[in-house]
Amino acid sequence: SCRILVMISGNGSNLQAVIDSCDSKMPGRVVGVISNKADAYGLIRAHHAEIDTSCVIARKEESRAQYDARLQAAIDRYQPDLIVLAGFMRILSDELVSRYQGKMLNIHPSLLPKYPGLDTHKRAIEAGDSEHGASVHFVIPALDSGPVILQAKVPVFADDTVATLAARVHEQEHAIYPIVVRWFCQGRLKMVDGKAWLDDEAIGPNG
Ligand code: GAR
Repeated sequence: SCRILVMISGNGSNLQAVIDSCDSKMPGRVVGVISNKADAYGLIRAHHAEIDTSCVIARKEESRAQYDARLQAAIDRYQPDLIVLAGFMRILSDELVSRYQGKMLNIHPSLLPKYPGLDTHKRAIEAGDSEHGASVHFVIPALDSGPVILQAKVPVFADDTVATLAARVHEQEHAIYPIVVRWFCQGRLKMVDGKAWLDDEAIGPNG
């Protein structure tokens, strides 16, 4: 069964969705949760599910390379087959990402390639977009630009605020992330030649 490691920084609602999807029909289980924040609520979710947790907190005057070396050690202790970034709000070095290439997924709150980076809901509202959403993608060294596996779209309404739009997107994130995790654990999902493949077919908006 697939050893899933989830990395978080905050609330961990996507972590919860992945935990909840690990029923008897899921060929995988969450073996650990790593947070870069000691007060991340997702750590409490992990405790409730009796999942092992680690915190790797950035130290003052520590370089990215030094932090990522400690993070890599923490990751490798879990011997994961799959790393699921779920609101992990730190940029990872190219070296660390390359080490887990094809085994690391991220969820991003926009219809990539639109709005990489932060404040995606605010940017979608300010641009007057009529639709917005979330994307699950393989992680590659370039930020928020790995091959997209699955997206969910939501409408943007005229009276939306960041909070109402974010809530609508979140609900979709919780639906699509477990689907992708399941595909991976079933051995159906791979990254080949920089593209996402499902059952030997290139998929995604650029498949
Ligand atoms: C999610 O909306 C996720 O898409 C976003 O953080 C939120 C985490 O929520 N990720 C990013 O912005 C990555 N740059 P959660 O902690 O409740 O799962």
